[in-house]
Amino acid sequence: MGAVAYYSTRHFLITDRQTAALHQAYANAALLRNALASDVPNIDVQVTSLDSGSGTISLLNKHGQWFSTSLTVGEASLPSALRASVSHFHVATQTSLINGSPAYSVGVPLPAVASQYFLVVSLSDTQHTLHVLLAALAAAAALTTILGAGLGLLASRRTMRPLTDVSEAAMAIAGGRLDTRLPRHQRDRDLSNLASSFNEMANQLQERIERDARFTSDVSHELRSPLTTLAASLDLLESRRAQLDPEGQQALDLMTGDIGRFQRLVQDLLEISRDDAGVNDVSFDNVAVGELLRQSLAAAQRIHGSPTRATLTIAPDVELARLEIDKRRFERIMANLIENADHYAGGVSVIVAERSPSTSAVVISVIDEGPGIAETERTKIFDRFYRGDASGQRGAGGGSGLGLALVAEHVHRNRGTITVGDGPSGRGVSFRIELPLAEDDV
Ligand SMILES: Nc1ncnc2c1ncn2[C@@H]1O[C@H](COP(=O)(O)OP(=O)(O)OP(=O)(O)O)[C@@H](O)[C@H]1O
Ligand SMILES: [Mg+2]
Repeated sequence: MGAVAYYSTRHFLITDRQTAALHQAYANAALLRNALASDVPNIDVQVTSLDSGSGTISLLNKHGQWFSTSLTVGEASLPSALRASVSHFHVATQTSLINGSPAYSVGVPLPAVASQYFLVVSLSDTQHTLHVLLAALAAAAALTTILGAGLGLLASRRTMRPLTDVSEAAMAIAGGRLDTRLPRHQRDRDLSNLASSFNEMANQLQERIERDARFTSDVSHELRSPLTTLAASLDLLESRRAQLDPEGQQALDLMTGDIGRFQRLVQDLLEISRDDAGVNDVSFDNVAVGELLRQSLAAAQRIHGSPTRATLTIAPDVELARLEIDKRRFERIMANLIENADHYAGGVSVIVAERSPSTSAVVISVIDEGPGIAETERTKIFDRFYRGDASGQRGAGGGSGLGLALVAEHVHRNRGTITVGDGPSGRGVSFRIELPLAEDDV
């Protein structure tokens, strides 16, 4: 709009000035012709007395003799093309630079008195006006653009806000906060519909997840009592082992192994379903890293009965550093990692505790020198029921594949992270657990 306004104003101003100049030139030429025809003596006085208005100069060429109302503008200042046209008895006009500023010149031949009249009109004023107008329009355009952009941004934020809410709520649900819901928009019906559909979806999802978790938990509970009875009966048989023939003893061993694994599976399933159902049975204790690790190692040895040959290396600056941690869950983490290392990698070689270089956290690495875990398996091993190639076929005496899934859950409940990488010697694996330090110990 600024450009349109500028060009139309420019066109109007210049055309107006040119038309006025042309009329003036004709009028002045008629006056001069009459004066010259009646042989007025002082031609220069006649020329000077012409009403030319401000910024205009009159020039007369009479038989090659030039008269001008200006000292600086003379015959040589006029464009030669204009002079040529006029000398061929044509009325001519031309815009050009005269003495460095724009000017509009009109030439009128006066053949009856063998003369030529020229009127030079300065366009400097018009140019100045146009410059001011251009600056004002440009400033207005810039201001309008900035204002418009600001208002547009505000308006789009307001419009996008509900969608941002939906996206944040969806992210929260995906992150495990199943009870996240959207507020109802009273004023906007579309938004209100969106919010209620979203909330309905979240309700159903939550219900379904809780139902699944309850189902696993119920099944595990139901299995627990008969399993306890079976285990007790097996104990009884075990005490009468000597009375059994070799085949009976073999069957007894097989059953004892399987029932043990079954009990472990049911126990793990119960634990997992409790976590899925969102039971928040985390009880934090404030413990020193050194003490926690020694206790957990002793507990793991008690559970597996196998003396692990692991060396414990605790950096001096973390020995007494304190963690806000659920001891039971931490013991399960260590027990499962040590059990895996015993099972698949010939035992843990070293457990290292050190301060994390970047954050206020402690890093505990459980390292072995076994066959290692292929890159492609490293994310999958934390999945439920995932068992790697190393663990053989299901039912062949291996685990159920819940161990590391539980480890990951326990670490997560303790606000930590777990990753798996190569062991420091290039062989084996290193499970790296990062746990935040207690607030007052940071
Ligand atoms: N230290 C290790 N070295 C090599 N492979 C390992 C190691 N730890 C775990 N794995 C691989 O990761 C898989 C998953 O381990 P996870 O503890 O979850 O299940 P599991 O040991 O098979 O069964 P569960 O622990 O439930 O009895 C294992 O089957 C094994 O292939
Ligand atoms: Mg395991």
